[in-house]
Amino acid sequence: MPAATQKKSAIPTPAQLGLKSGNAAIVGLQWGDEGKGKVVDMVASAPKAFDFIARYNGGANAGHTVVVGKTKYALHLLPSGILSRGKVNVIGNGVVIDPAKLVEEIEGMRAKGVKVDSKNLKISDRAHVVFPWHKAEDKLLEASSASPIGTTGRGIGPCYADKALRVNAIRMGDLLDEKKRVMEVARIAKFKNTLLASLAASYQLEYQPVSVEQLLKDSELQLKVLAPMVCDTAMLLNDASAKGKRVLFEGANATLLDIDHGTYPFVTSSNCSSLGVHTGTGMAGHKVPHVIGICKAYQTRVGSGPMPTELCDSTGDRIRQIGREYGTTTGRPRRCGWLDLVALKYTATVSGATCLCIMLLDVLESFDEIKVCVAYKINGKKTDRFPASAELLAKAVPVYKTVKGFGGKVSDVRKLSKLPAGAKAYLRLIEDAIGVPVVLASVGPARDQTAVN
Ligand code: GDP
Ligand code: IMO
Ligand code: MG
Repeated sequence: MPAATQKKSAIPTPAQLGLKSGNAAIVGLQWGDEGKGKVVDMVASAPKAFDFIARYNGGANAGHTVVVGKTKYALHLLPSGILSRGKVNVIGNGVVIDPAKLVEEIEGMRAKGVKVDSKNLKISDRAHVVFPWHKAEDKLLEASSASPIGTTGRGIGPCYADKALRVNAIRMGDLLDEKKRVMEVARIAKFKNTLLASLAASYQLEYQPVSVEQLLKDSELQLKVLAPMVCDTAMLLNDASAKGKRVLFEGANATLLDIDHGTYPFVTSSNCSSLGVHTGTGMAGHKVPHVIGICKAYQTRVGSGPMPTELCDSTGDRIRQIGREYGTTTGRPRRCGWLDLVALKYTATVSGATCLCIMLLDVLESFDEIKVCVAYKINGKKTDRFPASAELLAKAVPVYKTVKGFGGKVSDVRKLSKLPAGAKAYLRLIEDAIGVPVVLASVGPARDQTAVN
């Protein structure tokens, strides 16, 4: 098992992050890909801390890369806790599940020697199912739109839309009832094939109708793997928590992509901020005292939408190259820019971050000068408030503070107090601006490439 391949003493413990007791959520504070997977895996791998690791939102649009020893894992629907022995992983009701992708991921993990079975993976019977028509609709909507969002094409938006519409939606629990599954799949496929063929035709786009026969055959095979894992995860988590077991919630996507609080409409379709933890798992707010905010030392974004600090120049290319900023899910190059403290203050507030982890600090170690955005100028007016409107945000001109580089290498440092003076000053600048303590600086992708107090 991967957990055994690392020296335990080299990996920071949850207690070093201030997580001595209680449940905790790990949440992205930018536009995704902050390194949530690394922190979840690191915290989950501690033997006596958290018992359950639960995903609460999103679907296969997420891509969490976790490095354990010499092995790299790309997780999409599986919680990153799957890599740690003796933990129960939960895919909560707020997640939208593509059974084909989930089975593929489970089989991929098993091929790498990772145990995945009905003991260490539980799937909510209330989670909605992503069907092939959702993926087709996602692609058709993007192709026919004058202002595409740049989605991952994983059917996320259409599945959540159907969940809200209620009439053409199927949940994991419904799939277990064979009669219902056959009837509902046939009924909805007929509706979707008619609707999507007509949408495609009016935009001169292609649509391959979904075959009910094939879909039901595939479903049967997928359910052989998934059915034993499906249960009432809300009660599972609440019962366990009442008995003193601890739950670590793993956010997918990130607060600036939150359907309510992000840069709408250039967002995903779930509550990816910490606010989604409660609706997405059935665990009430007061049961989650810790919110670990995950943030890069700079800023990235994939897909469309405003990004005030984006660098469309050689500096942006340099960050992309050093940080290997290419998507885990789609392989798309990520848009790169300087850290945006206006956005971070907003997301740390909305998500209620109780501490911060600053990731990929090593990426900036060769820079002589670093800029951070401390305010925006919008229509000539200076503000430190993050606007609700994407149009206004697109007009925001960053006001930068320029600071000196780190003045030394950070990648070999394992204690925050041992960081070079410039790096310490950089972390202090973030802490002071946000008013939340920085408890961790990540200086490389591996579990132990981490500096804590
Ligand atoms: P997530 O979606 O938030 O889990 O983040 P991703 O896995 O999509 O993207 C983060 C990428 O950065 C992954 O390839 C990680 O292996 C890598 N990574 C995480 N922390 C660090 C770090 O401190 N330094 C470097 N250089 N890479 C890191
Ligand atoms: P992780 O969990 C980065 C972005 C997409 C697109 C928008 C909507 O790896 O941080 P969707 O397919 O969800 O309808 O796309 O949201 N997006 C992400 N960007 N990391 C992610 O997840 C993302 N999940 C969605 O690029 O702009
Ligand atoms: Mg990612």
